[in-house]
Amino acid sequence: MAGICQMCFLGQVILSSFLTGTTGNRDVFSSSGEDVSLPCDNALSGCTSTVWNYNQNIRSSAVELFAKGKKKNNIKRHERLSLGSDCSLNIYKTSEEDHGMYTCQQFVYDTPYGTDKSVSLHVLHVSSTQNEMRSGSSVTLSCQLFSHENSCDTLFRTEGFQLVWVNQAGVNLHKDFRYQILLPGQCISTLTTKLLNEDNNTEWRCLLKMRKETKTTASYTVRFTGSNTVIPVTTINKATTNASETEGSKICVSLYRVIVVIVQISVFAAPTVIFLQIICARRA
Ligand SMILES: *[C@@H]1O[C@H](CO)[C@@H](O)[C@H](O)[C@H]1NC(C)=O
Repeated sequence: MAGICQMCFLGQVILSSFLTGTTGNRDVFSSSGEDVSLPCDNALSGCTSTVWNYNQNIRSSAVELFAKGKKKNNIKRHERLSLGSDCSLNIYKTSEEDHGMYTCQQFVYDTPYGTDKSVSLHVLHVSSTQNEMRSGSSVTLSCQLFSHENSCDTLFRTEGFQLVWVNQAGVNLHKDFRYQILLPGQCISTLTTKLLNEDNNTEWRCLLKMRKETKTTASYTVRFTGSNTVIPVTTINKATTNASETEGSKICVSLYRVIVVIVQISVFAAPTVIFLQIICARRA
């Protein structure tokens, strides 16, 4: 009997490591502001033996969030945490600060029961450092996946994760020349654009995709600041305008030079021709 159970258990471990990827942990993706529920894999009914621990990164020490099914009230964000009926950990209004490794443990008579399975919470967040938003100003939105240590790096490098920007209608913005989209790091993507009059209250969305599948979405809504003065729409790309201007002035300079040369030739040529005619006439 014990042999069969061990086999089952081994099978479970192997199967779950296939399902959750190389890390052996379960990954949960959320966007900031969303409510999230982290599953407890080895829960016992009643949850009175449940312990939830949290670790933001390797350097920080583990924080006990729940012990024996009771919430610790000395922790910073205790008012946003609760225990589900299946012993899952509910986080209300996730923030990027909540990212990290969560471990659910069971203690029976002060002895750990079953295997600890950690849940890695990844939080997607879009921000802008811009203080002023108005028509004509340039805005940069930054979309970042906050994860435990380098785990997001691994997702992007080996598991086909990527960040994709779309508009409210879900149209991909990566081929639209209005937007400059850069990847300054593995877990971060920035979108820069010049704001137009109609951009007040426009929402841009950042999707966390694993190949075709969208794992989570974070969005940013532009709110114009300051006065309501409507600046005339100048949507033409500035770089293009400057380029055509310089092209134009180059042509003008060339044309001017040609005219000068023609004038110079005629000014000097005319007296020479007349002079030669006079000499030739006298010879004749
Ligand atoms: C932007 O939209 C908000 C909300 O609709 C409005 O109150 C504000 O006056 C608008 N600002 C400009 C500059 O149009």
